[in-house]
Amino acid sequence: MCGIVGYTGRGPALPVLLSGLHRMEYRGYDSAGVALLPAGGGAPQVRRAVGKVAALETAISESPVDASAPLGIGHTRWATHGAPSERNAHPHLSRDGSIALVHNGIIDNFLALRERLVSQGFVFRSETDSEALAHLVEACRADTLLESVRRALSFVSGTYGIAVAASWAPGQIVVARKGSPIAIAAADGVACVASDAAALAGRADSVAYLDDGDIALLVPGGFEVRSIEALSPVVRPAAPLDFAPDAIEKGGYEHFMRKEIAEQPEALENCLRGRLVDEDGTAKLSGLRMEPRDIAALQSVVVTACGTSYYAGLHGTYAFEQFSGIPSRIEQAAEFRYRNPIVAPETALVSLSQSGETADTLAAVREAKRKGALVLSVCNVVGSTIAREAGRGVYLHAGPEIGVASTKAFLCQVAVLSMMALLFGRTRRLSCQEGRTIVGALKALPDLVRAALAQEDAIVRIAEKFAGARDAFFIGRGWQYPAALEGALKLKEISYLHAEGYHAAELKHGPIALLDEHVPVVALSPLGPGHDKMLGNIQECRARKAPVIAIATEGDSSVDAFTEDVIRVPQCPDFTAAVPVVVVEQLFAYHVARLRGEPIDQPRNLAKSVTVE
Ligand code: F6R
Repeated sequence: MCGIVGYTGRGPALPVLLSGLHRMEYRGYDSAGVALLPAGGGAPQVRRAVGKVAALETAISESPVDASAPLGIGHTRWATHGAPSERNAHPHLSRDGSIALVHNGIIDNFLALRERLVSQGFVFRSETDSEALAHLVEACRADTLLESVRRALSFVSGTYGIAVAASWAPGQIVVARKGSPIAIAAADGVACVASDAAALAGRADSVAYLDDGDIALLVPGGFEVRSIEALSPVVRPAAPLDFAPDAIEKGGYEHFMRKEIAEQPEALENCLRGRLVDEDGTAKLSGLRMEPRDIAALQSVVVTACGTSYYAGLHGTYAFEQFSGIPSRIEQAAEFRYRNPIVAPETALVSLSQSGETADTLAAVREAKRKGALVLSVCNVVGSTIAREAGRGVYLHAGPEIGVASTKAFLCQVAVLSMMALLFGRTRRLSCQEGRTIVGALKALPDLVRAALAQEDAIVRIAEKFAGARDAFFIGRGWQYPAALEGALKLKEISYLHAEGYHAAELKHGPIALLDEHVPVVALSPLGPGHDKMLGNIQECRARKAPVIAIATEGDSSVDAFTEDVIRVPQCPDFTAAVPVVVVEQLFAYHVARLRGEPIDQPRNLAKSVTVE
């Protein structure tokens, strides 16, 4: 995700900014930039570059800035609005060039703000939501920078962590937080800010963290924090800053995959934010650019993807059918592209890809476009090839995924497809009340994930018991069938343990021959339609002496007679129950791989982005 750093003091700001940006590189980003404000006034000098911080350093060496400037702000950007490019990189300047601003988060009412600012004569130089904030601070200019920023924020809805500096407020940085972290520190003659305390390691012994609704003024040697609403002073206690270098890299986790598993509640919150409409019981997905009559005309939905994205897509087809009543199917992208598929103009082809660069999925998009389908993309990486070529779609906003095994992208894909299905359903056959029930269930997804994460100790104990196995099965029915496929994929790709995902009813049509006391079966058995059948399938496994690991609903003891290895997930509707189940599977795969000593973030033979057929 994006990173913010800022410095005001007596010494040069630039080295502090660059080292802070380097320290946040582990978070993943696509461009970087700094703004330096010379001592005694003068407009902010901005340098930005696409790519790594090293590219920014090259840009600065080719076009030098005032290296003695004692105040500056810097940023690493991970694109959400507008592709990665120099002009979309931060800092952004206000129209008069006097104000520089960096922003993390997403401004929900950005289009309305932009329209209003344009009508007042502001000219936008980027496609970002963040630039609107820089112009807004100029439009709201008051006696002080603090008051200008405060007024501007009163017009903003969405999430932000921001740092703002202005040529007319020497020595000052104003920061504010709503939903995006901001840490501040002050020491002898300097004050610093960062979105990630790791960026300040070595610069300060302790940091204070802003709460949502806080605004703070930083000056050399000190800071004061106030509430944005009332401007009343608030005290934010300082916490010691004590980071080992390795902890800085992975945000305190041993592996990126584990960090990304932990980030899932926040990733889902970002993915859902501003897209669910309680009152109308529907979803708002403007990137689809579909009018109700376009949705009403749809005859079928074809989802296409590879790997983990394919399994999220399979879950999505269930949602399209159940919520919207539109016939839906999933196709492996590699099959779709070569099979001369039948697609019509009334077919929506939904292409799913975390990276947006997968060769087979891209080829499927091109084939579907050639055949006249309405192509919609669901990608995580903004400006990726699939997103650009599809021309319309929905971004996941999951944040960068660095571990090769996909985790948070899967859950956000499930969330986005559920929202699309809800939107299509509300346009076609769902009542407002039914829509509201689905909205409520989708809003609960982050808490379902938190509850699943809280089961980690139990999962570790079970992983210890089975880490030495050679084979495993994952079985599920209905909405849990895609989750069974995903659980097996996660386990095999990082632990190198042979695992197969099967529909629970299919087991007896062949693979049951492989079961014995050495082959554990992970039975996805939360309450819901087909639960009694699932209990029957578990008994079939036990009759072959296969040990069963059950993932079951809290308070339901029906599986306890068959196994002592039970992991509980919260009660929820069947159409969201796969979400906590998959989190349990991710943690299980992670701990088995860890116990087997495998290189979790970069498993052998695998690449994060598969750009070959
Ligand atoms: C597995 C995994 C892969 C990807 C697949 C498609 O954990 O990450 O199976 O899901 O390579 O990648 P994207 O989603 O980038 O198209």
